[in-house]
Amino acid sequence: MLRKLKAVSLFSGCGGFDLGAQNAGVDIIWANDIDPYAASAYQTLLPKVPFTLGDIRKIKEFPEADILIGCYPCTGFSEAARRRPCDLTERDLRANPGNFLYREFLRALRQVRPKFLFVENVKGMLTAEQGWFFEKQKQGFRRHGYKIQSKLLLATNYGVAQERKRVFIVGVRKDVKDFVYEFPAPTHGTDTGTPFAVLRDVIGNMSATDDDAYCKKEFHGHFLTRNRKRSWDEPSYTIVAHASHVPLHPDGKPMKWVGKDKYMLQGNINRHLSWRECAAIQGLPSHIKVEGGLFAKYRVVGNAVPPAFGFALLKSVSRWANQT
Ligand SMILES: C[S@@+](CC[C@H](N)C(=O)[O-])C[C@H]1O[C@@H](n2cnc3c(N)ncnc32)[C@H](O)[C@@H]1O
Repeated sequence: MLRKLKAVSLFSGCGGFDLGAQNAGVDIIWANDIDPYAASAYQTLLPKVPFTLGDIRKIKEFPEADILIGCYPCTGFSEAARRRPCDLTERDLRANPGNFLYREFLRALRQVRPKFLFVENVKGMLTAEQGWFFEKQKQGFRRHGYKIQSKLLLATNYGVAQERKRVFIVGVRKDVKDFVYEFPAPTHGTDTGTPFAVLRDVIGNMSATDDDAYCKKEFHGHFLTRNRKRSWDEPSYTIVAHASHVPLHPDGKPMKWVGKDKYMLQGNINRHLSWRECAAIQGLPSHIKVEGGLFAKYRVVGNAVPPAFGFALLKSVSRWANQT
């Protein structure tokens, strides 16, 4: 009989990572998020998972499980945010409680006592405060008895049509002796025999109908400091959570470089990707429903971890459980 590992998921969002974990054979037994729109979207993807809506800081008890998943928020560490002074130190704990939600992860870790932990975050976390913050998290996990590894993974390598880079921390409890975790090898791209997925593969058949609403706000100055348009035969730029920062649809002419940090739109076919196109690029199933206004839809979808990451990262752990 198949032995399914049980997982508790924190900061679950609309369930991107969890869906991938479930596809890898993991049973998600508890999920949580503070955002009601993420919670209702989660229930359209993983309707059987018990979901607790609310601030994690107010949750007293977490169930025991084999795996703890936590993609804590990354607003303070995103590449864009790092251009502004970002002074994260112990002293800022009270001022920036959102950036210290990893402590909630540690609190849950003590209760859940999982064999494995999985954390996702933005690339900027590697360099925030010259790496101080990243080290602090890893030290915390080691202190709690876990062997820790981390790696920056590129979503295109796992079949996602998007150049999304994310850092993953994986921990294996020290008493798990017969398993050594290895990060998954790429399944797509150079040397794999399978080409990278591109925009045509995932949104080639979609059109922006009413339901496919997109952000129609005027393109702001910052938006035009970079190329935002990829061709049909390339993977997308990163799908972000803020509507007016979302990349452009590939139709029409490419953007033109006109000087340092300056790009120009050409022709008259230039629009943001719709939130549904963003969801497809993230690899989220087309039956996802997201309530709320357009900004909430883009936020929920842009915050998601592509399910392909969850699947690739959990596969070996799930296989191990079935061999023991
Ligand atoms: C990076 S997103 C999570 C992505 C998600 N795990 C996935 O796989 O698609 C971070 C999430 O943390 C949630 N969050 C932020 N502060 C929170 C808090 N205090 N308590 C619970 N959830 C919180 C946000 O609403 C957001 O959905």
